[in-house]
Amino acid sequence: MSGFLRNLGVRLPLIQAPMAGGPDSPALAAAVSEAGGLGSLGCAYLTPEQLEQAIAATRALTPAPFAINLFVRSDPPDDAGAMARVAAALEPLRRELKLTEQPAPAKPLPGFDAQLEVVLRLKPRVLSFTFGLLAPHQLAALRAAGIATVGTATTLEEGEALQRLGVDAICAQGSEAGGHRGTFLGDPYDALTGTLTLTRQLVTRLRVPIIAAGGIMDTAGIRAVLHLGAFAAQLGTAFMLCPEAGTHPAHRAALKSAAARTTVVTRAFSGRAARGIKNRFSELFGDRAQQIAPATFPQHQALTAELRSAAAAQNRPDLMQLWCGQNAVMLRELPARELVGALIDGLVSI
Ligand SMILES: Cc1cc2nc3c(=O)[nH]c(=O)nc-3n(C[C@H](O)[C@H](O)[C@H](O)COP(=O)(O)O)c2cc1C
Repeated sequence: MSGFLRNLGVRLPLIQAPMAGGPDSPALAAAVSEAGGLGSLGCAYLTPEQLEQAIAATRALTPAPFAINLFVRSDPPDDAGAMARVAAALEPLRRELKLTEQPAPAKPLPGFDAQLEVVLRLKPRVLSFTFGLLAPHQLAALRAAGIATVGTATTLEEGEALQRLGVDAICAQGSEAGGHRGTFLGDPYDALTGTLTLTRQLVTRLRVPIIAAGGIMDTAGIRAVLHLGAFAAQLGTAFMLCPEAGTHPAHRAALKSAAARTTVVTRAFSGRAARGIKNRFSELFGDRAQQIAPATFPQHQALTAELRSAAAAQNRPDLMQLWCGQNAVMLRELPARELVGALIDGLVSI
């Protein structure tokens, strides 16, 4: 049993990954935490009020600890040239989805400082974060509030930076992982190290305890990363078909289809590299030939928002954002408690 989990009173070396934007939910996080793992809530897109409600809703379902997850952002200024380029590329798709010619004004993302203030006030037991480093004074404030911190690394260099910062644990996000790449130092396409390699690099080179994430879907996968020296496995895609998850019905159908066998890392949806099911939209924007350069995150995400939600409402998987890891083939559709039971079957709680 690792010190990190023991301090929290978490029995199983299993973390349900934060999945902002719909797939995770208070019901899912609470069910996983009740079953002995550590549930997470991806709260990056929530306003301070919504974040407060999400924490309250989860606490109403379980007294067990859970993690809140945020994006550490420093947004570049909006770029008018990029906006015109992206708008022109989206125009034929907007027409296809029968959207008005004039896109609805984009909603800005809630500010990180205001989100962190809620976390410090409501004191969930764990704050995990991705896309960057907290400032030292923010980390000190979390520590003073008794909140354990988990940073996300996609390279050894990022792991070293998180260790210097002084986090309590590091999530090694292998390239198999679904959703946004956490990369914050250098080009995300140079940071596609697999889970096995990255976990082993961080375990052997760092003193901070390591969580492994990316493509882990069953007991054998969990056992493998524990064997590599990680103290817990973090699984996202594996939980996306649970009835407690907020995964959109069309996204569920795509995860169960043969299309989920082919995933790509693409900047097409948000402007940040993320892994999802390859479709028509994922191939529109990016860095390859035939692709149009996206705007940066979060400007690009705001520019595509209306189209993405219309595609979901109209059940158009060819234009939807379908985040998914490389191992959806192994998905099981079970209630979260049963899934946790199946995932840790035969694993001694350590
Ligand atoms: C739909 C989806 C949304 C995600 N959102 C977040 C997020 O908000 N914050 C975060 O740190 N990681 C996020 N991730 C990445 C997960 O934390 C984790 O790295 C990944 O799910 C592990 O790979 P797997 O999906 O193959 O299990 C997301 C992943 C998915 C699939």
